[in-house]
Amino acid sequence: MNLAIVGSGYVGLVTGACFAEVGHRVICVDNDLKKVHQLQDGNIPIYEPGLEEIVKRNVAAGRLSFTASIGDAVEASKVIFIAVPTPPQPDGSVDLSFVEGVAREIAIHIKEYRIVVDKSTVPVKTGEKVAQTINRYNPGAPIDVVSNPEFLREGSAVEDLMKPDRIVVGVSSERAVGPMKEIYEPFKVPIMITDLNSAELIKHASNSFLALKISYINAVAAVCEASGANVERVADGMGADKRIGRDFLNAGVGYGGSCFPKDLSAFIRISEELGYNFRLLKEVEAINRDQKERFLKKVRESLWVLRHKKIGVLGLAFKGNTDDVRSSVAIAIVQQLIAEGAEVRAYDPKAMEKAQPLVPEAKMTERAEDVADGADALLLLTEWNEFKSLPWAAIKKRMLSPLLFDGRNLLDPAAIRALGFNYTGIGR
Ligand code: UDX
Repeated sequence: MNLAIVGSGYVGLVTGACFAEVGHRVICVDNDLKKVHQLQDGNIPIYEPGLEEIVKRNVAAGRLSFTASIGDAVEASKVIFIAVPTPPQPDGSVDLSFVEGVAREIAIHIKEYRIVVDKSTVPVKTGEKVAQTINRYNPGAPIDVVSNPEFLREGSAVEDLMKPDRIVVGVSSERAVGPMKEIYEPFKVPIMITDLNSAELIKHASNSFLALKISYINAVAAVCEASGANVERVADGMGADKRIGRDFLNAGVGYGGSCFPKDLSAFIRISEELGYNFRLLKEVEAINRDQKERFLKKVRESLWVLRHKKIGVLGLAFKGNTDDVRSSVAIAIVQQLIAEGAEVRAYDPKAMEKAQPLVPEAKMTERAEDVADGADALLLLTEWNEFKSLPWAAIKKRMLSPLLFDGRNLLDPAAIRALGFNYTGIGR
């Protein structure tokens, strides 16, 4: 089928590439001409395993193309996906102006039946507003609006898209069901058809639930610390219950990224607008904020004064396998250390370039072990697998004092203590 994706950011680009990979003809649209040219030249602006090969293969096969013209894309495509940013506003609500702008532009180009699909994460009732907007700017336009939320994780976005757990399609008319099923048929996974509002809610409710799981285990970790229990064993025991599951029960310095913090506040906000005070989720946010503070408190307690202390930081990305530093707890911690006068040397396998402008005072090092030179303490802040196999014995020798704070419970406490480190994890 001929498809258009408006917005060639993270979600739009991965979605467009994967749709082409299963045989659809896809036009990706972006209003940033520089980005369009970059993509036409085969340069991928984000780091995502597997994406570059898929883009190149499908461009070469003529199934994937890039343009700045919404008009051309609407004319050529039966289904048009909206995948533009929905950034947070200072009050926690979502800025829907990009979605609205794109809906208006799509509207003026519609001449025959089109399905307009919202893929961006939006508050419930946005689809209804998109339909109203299109009708306002093109009265009587033959359209159906669909909600089709994405559930991609950064770092495994291609895999998540090619092998999703489920596909959610919210419709306001039966007419849109057939074409949507046809688009997703090649993925061979269950397609859940719902109404528009339910589909939008599934996305917010899912992400908020995952964040809740993380805050729950972080709260349990606090009790583990106070009682001498081990949060990993507790999580294993809980996770063995199929109803609970072990995923997303890893205690740490808290969740970050471009999705969870934003989606939680948006969900709290829209619930409030609809008359429900979502106190549970406010507590999830509070626990996440506390988690960072509780970690910093441990560092302060050990070092007493942070001013002029040399602190080595391993990890700046909001999680492993990504170069994304948006709402990264690691960055927030480094900023706080610097504000308190510490001298920070930091290393991240992928995120240093994006992190540097956010922490200009921090010195980025070439190799992970270089952060240890003369350090009073080391802080491990991102769950990069490769940190497990660093030359820890050599690292210890380069430190002034062997304090190690593992904010992700990544290392084996017994093995690392055997090397002479003074090791502190989370909840164990
Ligand atoms: C998330 C959702 O998983 C995805 O379905 C949605 O579409 C977008 O938001 P992403 O933001 O890529 O994906 O990150 P995710 O892997 O979910 O991790 C989010 C944060 O939680 C990270 O900061 C991570 O370090 C943290 N986390 C995750 C924990 O602290 N403990 C865990 O057990 C799992």
